[in-house]
Amino acid sequence: MTDIRTVAVLGGGLMGSGIAQVVAQAGFSTTIREVSDALAQRARARVERALTRAVEKGKLDAPQRDAALGRLTVTSDLGALDAADVVIEAVVEDLAVKNALWRELDALCGPTTLFASNTSSLTIAAMAAATARGDRFVGLHFFNPVPAMRLVEVVRTVTTSDESFARAMDFARAIGKEPIAAKDTSGFVVNLLLVPYLMDAITQVERHVASVEDVDRGMALGAGHPMGPLQLCDFIGLDTLQRVAEVMFDEYKERRYAPPPLLRRMVLAGMYGRKSGRGFYDYSQDPPRVSALGI
Ligand code: NAI
Repeated sequence: MTDIRTVAVLGGGLMGSGIAQVVAQAGFSTTIREVSDALAQRARARVERALTRAVEKGKLDAPQRDAALGRLTVTSDLGALDAADVVIEAVVEDLAVKNALWRELDALCGPTTLFASNTSSLTIAAMAAATARGDRFVGLHFFNPVPAMRLVEVVRTVTTSDESFARAMDFARAIGKEPIAAKDTSGFVVNLLLVPYLMDAITQVERHVASVEDVDRGMALGAGHPMGPLQLCDFIGLDTLQRVAEVMFDEYKERRYAPPPLLRRMVLAGMYGRKSGRGFYDYSQDPPRVSALGI
C-alpha cells in the first residue's frame, strides 16, 4: 500500500516519459515538467505514442490508454508541482542542473513530499545535501525501456530515513515494478556488474579477439542473454555509457570501470548508438549492419 497519490516527473526525455507513462497507467495523477511548453508537449506526444503502440500490440485496450492519458498533465511551470507527493527527477545527467531544481522544489513542496532521483551515476548524497530534506531523499533507478523493464533500484543514502525508504519501496511496487534495495555507491547493483562487462566487450573488439557480431552472438547464444553486449551499448547510448563508466572509475579508481579508447573515439565521432543512427551497428539500414570502425 502507498500513501502517494500525485506524482511529478522532472524531464520528459527517454526515461522521464517512460516513468510518467508507467505511473499514469498505474492510476496516479501524473505531471511531467519540461523546460519549455514545446518540450512538454513533445513529452506528452511521446507517452501517447507509446501507449498507442501498446494498444496496437494488444497489451492495453483503448479505454485504458485514454484513462492513462487523462491522468497525465504536462507543464513548463515548476510551481505546478507544489502538491506532488513524490517528485521523480529524470533530467540530464548533470549535478548542477539537478541541484538547481532540487533547491527550488525544496522551498516549493510540502514537508511530506518525497524526492527521488533516477540518476545512473551521480551520488544521491550530493543531491540530498542541496536540500533540507536529506531524510526524505532516495534514488529510484528505473531501467530502459521503463514500461518493459520490471526492475527499480531503490537507493538509500546515508541520510534517508527508514520511513522514506519504505515509502519508496511501496511506491515502486504500487506502480507494478519489482524493487531491490541498493546502497548509494556508484553503479548501485546492476551497473556495478554490467558496466565492466560492457567495457570488456568493447575491449575484445578493440583487441580483435572477435568481431562485433561474434561477441554479440556469443553472449546471446552462449549465455542466453536477450541481446549481445555491443547491441546493449548501442541501446543505452555510448555517450551515456561513457559518462557512467567515468563516474564509476572516478569513484573506485579500478581499471575495470575505465572507458576503453575505442569507446571514447566513437563518442567523439558522434557515434552514440541507436539514438544517433550509428554505433557498433549502423541503423540506417534494416536490419542494422555492423559499422566499419577502421580497426
Ligand atoms: P534525455 O536526454 O532523453 O532526457 C532528459 C530530459 O530532461 C530532456 O528532455 C531535457 O529537456 C530535460 N530537462 C533538462 N533540464 C531540465 C529541467 N531543468 N527541468 C525539466 N526538464 C529538464 O535523458 P534520459 O536518458 O531520459 O536520462 C535522464 C536521467 O535518467 C539521467 O539522470 C540518466 O542518468 C538517467 N537514466 C538513464 C537511463 C538510460 O538508459 N538512458 C537509464 C536509467 C537512468
